[in-house]
Amino acid sequence: MSTDQSTPRVPDVENPQPTMPLTEDIRPGTANDPPVEIVERDRTADADRAATLTVDGESVTVSAESTLLDATEAIDTDDYVPALCSYDDHDEIGPRSECRTCMVETEEHGVVPSCSFPAEDGMTVRTDTTEASEARDVNLDLLLSNHNLRCTTCGKNGRCELQDVSIENDVAEPRYGVFDERDAYEPLDDSSPFIQIDRNKCILCNRCVEACNDVQVEGVLRIEGSGEDTRIGFQNDAETMMDSTCVSCGHCATVCPTGALVEQGLTDAATIPAPGFTQKNSIGKTVEAENDRFQPGQATPMKGDQGDESAAEPTAESPATEDD
Ligand code: SF4
Ligand code: SF4
Ligand code: FES
Repeated sequence: MSTDQSTPRVPDVENPQPTMPLTEDIRPGTANDPPVEIVERDRTADADRAATLTVDGESVTVSAESTLLDATEAIDTDDYVPALCSYDDHDEIGPRSECRTCMVETEEHGVVPSCSFPAEDGMTVRTDTTEASEARDVNLDLLLSNHNLRCTTCGKNGRCELQDVSIENDVAEPRYGVFDERDAYEPLDDSSPFIQIDRNKCILCNRCVEACNDVQVEGVLRIEGSGEDTRIGFQNDAETMMDSTCVSCGHCATVCPTGALVEQGLTDAATIPAPGFTQKNSIGKTVEAENDRFQPGQATPMKGDQGDESAAEPTAESPATEDD
């Protein structure tokens, strides 16, 4: 994949989206979806309800409601199948079928995203066909082409899923180029004492939105905009993390597969100590909080403080800093 091919080529792969069999059995789940009854999946292969299929020539039996990704994960597949927007569907996060890095080929339905395609009894699945592997590679290259690849100054360097997948796939350079227009960079949102947002590294996988809305039930994050302006934003229309209604639980940063959401304090945790290079100066512009009355270690106070100017005054719970 990702070689020095001079003419980028998009394979002739039918977009399975219109016929995606996302059903009540395989519920992606998000705060924007209609309420659904959450049923814990039974992963034990139940003889009555199990599906037996063939993956890369090997027979695999999975429980009802499993996906093709579950089936591929049950064996050593011939090809590596990443799944960047899939997290843990026990936990109401994913699958979202957003990134399409998990494509596999089935005899019955052609090339499909394995994370959200139900495992049906009798299916024949291959991970190593040209079509499946090229579809995965194209989609990974598309993600990379819209990603700030300044990994050596990133706090997730060495613990980034996108980096892991790229290494695993021998990516030399993304065939669609690298996001390197400095004036196109979104400013780093460093306004919150708890979570830093670098949208230049966001792959729009939606994991954070589901963690915040469906698991924490805080309703802070959303995906906003459209086309190339699609970005992570806030449900209260806030401009910065500090002005959002975030309660600083940190779940979004925990599930983020890239360096787009990082806990403050870990923002430099995994960077190579190259003098002069930091996460901030590799981006360009940084949005800081307008004042620093809230100290790290203190819950983000915005929920209680919204619309209450008096909250800006120092209190016993929110002591003044030297700069106040
Ligand atoms: S840290 Fe804030 S934005 Fe992130 S999941 Fe918790 S409440 Fe939502
Ligand atoms: S911020 Fe992270 S978790 Fe949220 S959509 Fe972007 S890459 Fe995914
Ligand atoms: S993991 Fe399947 S589409 Fe992202």
